[in-house]
Order: sequence, then C-alpha cells, then structure tokens
Amino acid sequence: MRSWVQVLETASYRNVGKGRKRELHAPGGSSGIGLETSRVFALRGAHVIIAARNTEAASEARKRIMEIHPVARVDVLKLDLSSLKSVRAFADQFNSMNLPLNILINNAGVMFCPFQLSEDEVEMQFATNHLGHFLLTNLLLDNMKTTAKSTGIEGRIVNLSSVAHLHTYPKGILFDQLNDKKIYNDKMAYGQSKLANILHAKELSRRLKEEGANITVNCVHPGLIMTNLMRHSFALMKAIQVVTYLFWKNVPQGAATTCYVGLNPQLKGMTGKYFADCNEEKTSAHAKSDALAKQLWEFSEELIRSAK
Ligand SMILES: NC(=O)c1ccc[n+]([C@@H]2O[C@H](COP(=O)([O-])OP(=O)(O)OC[C@H]3O[C@@H](n4cnc5c(N)ncnc54)[C@H](OP(=O)(O)O)[C@@H]3O)[C@@H](O)[C@H]2O)c1
Repeated sequence: MRSWVQVLETASYRNVGKGRKRELHAPGGSSGIGLETSRVFALRGAHVIIAARNTEAASEARKRIMEIHPVARVDVLKLDLSSLKSVRAFADQFNSMNLPLNILINNAGVMFCPFQLSEDEVEMQFATNHLGHFLLTNLLLDNMKTTAKSTGIEGRIVNLSSVAHLHTYPKGILFDQLNDKKIYNDKMAYGQSKLANILHAKELSRRLKEEGANITVNCVHPGLIMTNLMRHSFALMKAIQVVTYLFWKNVPQGAATTCYVGLNPQLKGMTGKYFADCNEEKTSAHAKSDALAKQLWEFSEELIRSAK
C-alpha cells in the first residue's frame, strides 16, 4: 500500500502542468484542509476560487499562497453555505464570470455545533455540510458539464466526508425529525451530515453516469487533523488525541487524499467511491444504500423548494 506522501508527490497533476489549465472551486478554502488543498492546486497551476463566508480570512489565505507562489491564480468569492440565498447568489456570480469549472471541492464544514436552525430553518450541521453543497453542486453542474465537453478533460467533484459517517442516527438520516431539538445529538447530527455527503456523491455519480457526462463524484475521509473544526469540542478532541496520537495527521497530510482524488490521472473514470489515506475504503451499510441515496436526493430537493 502506498503511503500518502508518495501519492501526493508522484501524482504530479500532469494535465495541469501541460498547459491544460484547470479551474478549481473550493468552498471553505480559507482555513484548515481547504486552505492547504487550495495551496497545492494553485501551486500545480490551477486557477483556484476560494469560496468563503469570511472573505477577510480567505483574502489573508490568498495572500499567504501568493507569497509562496507569486504567479498563482487565486480569487476569493463570498459564500455562506448555511444560507440557500447566499448559495444562489454565489452561483449566479460565479456563472456570470464565464469561467470554466473542472474541479469542485465541497470541503466546508462545521462539527458538533449546539442545536441551531439555519436561516432556512434546517438543522445547522445538515444545512451547512450537506444542503448548501447539494444546491451549490446542482447550480454549478451545467458549467462543469460544458467545461468537460469542450475541454475533453474529466470534471471532478470531491465531497469531504468523514469516518464519522459511521456514527449517525440508527435510521441513517432523520427525514421526519431532522429539526427535532428533543432528539438532537451533536455527534450523531455530524455523522448524519457526513453520511449525507457520501449518499449525495453516490446518487449524483449514478445520475451523471446515466447521462454520459464526463464528470466523476467521489468522497474522502481526510483523517484526523486538529483544525478549527474542533472549535465546539476542543477539550474532548484534545483528550482523544492524547490516547490516539498515532492516528492523527497534520494539515498537509490531511489534504493529500483530496488532492489525490481531485487530480490523479490514475483515478480517471472512477466515480461514486469513498477514499481514505489515498485508497478506496469501505463505507457503512447506510452509505451503500441506493434507496437511501435516492430518498436523500428527493428530500434535499423538497427542502430547497420549501425554503424558497
Ligand atoms: N479535521 C478533521 O479531523 C476532519 C476529519 C474528517 C472530516 N473532516 C472534514 O474536512 C472538511 C474540512 O475541515 P477542516 O478540518 O479543514 O476544518 P476547518 O479548518 O474548520 O475548515 C472548514 C472550513 O469550512 C468553512 N465553513 C464553515 N461553515 C461555513 C459556511 N456556512 N459557509 C462557508 N464556509 C463555511 C470554514 O470557514 P470559517 O473559517 O468561516 O469557519 C472553514 O474555512 C470538513 O468538511 C470536515 O467535516 C475533517
């Protein structure tokens, strides 16, 4: 089995280097794994759009990338994934810029938040981690299809999921009780949203295959990395880290699987899969369910319709 270092170094992102410039869009690219992913992609010649709710922090991140690599092409656009209105505004702005779109990294996320509803009245972890990315992906898909067709380069969508998808509510997704504060569990709600990332990728990948679109959709678990994600559970995660320190990665190691799945030519045509440590990995029974993936797709569409 190859280690993550070899894969990141040997992937070499050949198509990018050969003057076939790629456009990358990375929601949540202003810190943690997303920032490192943006840095690596920019270094390899991709034009990176960092989509962030905190554009000041994202501009600071952009500055840091530009200091290391002055010829990098990195731009920042405003996007709050917990707001469907913001997602629509972002997509309108991006699509009006007439930029091609080869790679979409659905990276942004929140974890273990206390119970809260989004402005669209959807439980916050589900709203941010799944629903915002679901709508965003749908609104950028025509651009991605056109780009893939006109350039002949395979489009790639990567959803940042987690091994935490194994720890969700017993039914997987709480379709009937998503917003029920009484049964809310911050850990299981996170697991539910990460399961939704996998089911989203699975159903989208099936639909794109059926259409014959030259776009793949995969999921990754980046590993365990101490980032701002832990802000609601810092003491707990620090305690866990003490006894499991061998399993933790630093941020560049955490970004390696995303970079691998987003760019490595060896993964051409591979879609609907889940990766960890740059290898295909097994998922839970819920994550394997075609019926659940279809139900989540319809449920997400309905949530978006009713939030209008
Ligand atoms: N770290 C881990 O151990 C680990 C393990 C498994 C999976 N993951 C997944 O990896 C992804 C990246 O996590 P990370 O560890 O890099 O965490 P992070 O440093 O907190 O990065 C998450 C990014 O998402 C952004 N974000 C959060 N809510 C947003 C919203 N409503 N709209 C737009 N952007 C938003 C954050 O922006 P702000 O700076 O404004 O908050 C931040 O830039 C997440 O999807 C996470 O679930 C991480």
